Amino acid sequence: MSAAIETDCTSISVTPLSPTIGAEIGGVRMGANVPAQQVQEIRQALLDWKVIFFRDQDVSVSDHVAFGRHFGELEIHPFTPNRTDHPEVVVIHHDENSKFGENHWHSDVTWRLEPSLGSILRARVVPPVGGDTLFCDMFAAYDALPDMIKEKIEGAFAIHSFEQSFGLAMTEEQRVKFLEQYPRARHPVVRTHPESGRKGLYVNAAFTLYIEGMERDESAKLLRYLYRQAATPEFQCRFRWQKNSVAFWDNRALQHYAAFDYLPHTRRVERVTIIGDRPY
Ligand code: SIN
Repeated sequence: MSAAIETDCTSISVTPLSPTIGAEIGGVRMGANVPAQQVQEIRQALLDWKVIFFRDQDVSVSDHVAFGRHFGELEIHPFTPNRTDHPEVVVIHHDENSKFGENHWHSDVTWRLEPSLGSILRARVVPPVGGDTLFCDMFAAYDALPDMIKEKIEGAFAIHSFEQSFGLAMTEEQRVKFLEQYPRARHPVVRTHPESGRKGLYVNAAFTLYIEGMERDESAKLLRYLYRQAATPEFQCRFRWQKNSVAFWDNRALQHYAAFDYLPHTRRVERVTIIGDRPY
């Protein structure tokens, strides 16, 4: 489905990929000089569609970074390979030697006390087949829960950490040191989006450890159930990358999953991540 729709926008085109999540945006060139009115329209499109896509952004790394800065301060990720010329740019590279990828549903850096507002990912090397990214609307995932589950998770908090993901590659000593710097984060299981006011599920398989105040078995069972919501095709859109395609997603509204189905081919993407605020 990709029918262009009428919008109030004056300087960008918006072509939805599904009824509630994902839209391709035209008329934008990423960089430092995006006009304020266009930044506002992009921000609104992000709120409306949760993930927006741009094609053919053959721009410099500085332009990528400058584009990100229109939307907030950028983080420097402490655990990923980052570009040496621009440490705000995370480099995700996989090839025939890679053993695992980002093929688990997650929202970026929920192990931080103030997790990411959004991420802007640009494709550098795209495999001839495979390597799509899937996005799930976590408002829809929440709305579809049975009332009994909604009641159970209302007001609940979950603990998030890097320990069960990035931490697995660390020595015990490194883990302890990083935990001092990045202590376990306590976030609501149901997050209210600070701009739209919508409620969305905010636990994810990569970084959530347990739900506070529950027996560990009960917490693990409930979390497994909640994680499965992201795998519902009706809540998703799926993006087929081309070189210099860009996806800009709202980590407060969705989760994403990078299909790891393209080996022995190479896939290389670069991401800037906009710092967000404390979830409530
Ligand atoms: C990520 O998890 O931020 C990377 C997504 C992707 O490589 O498509």
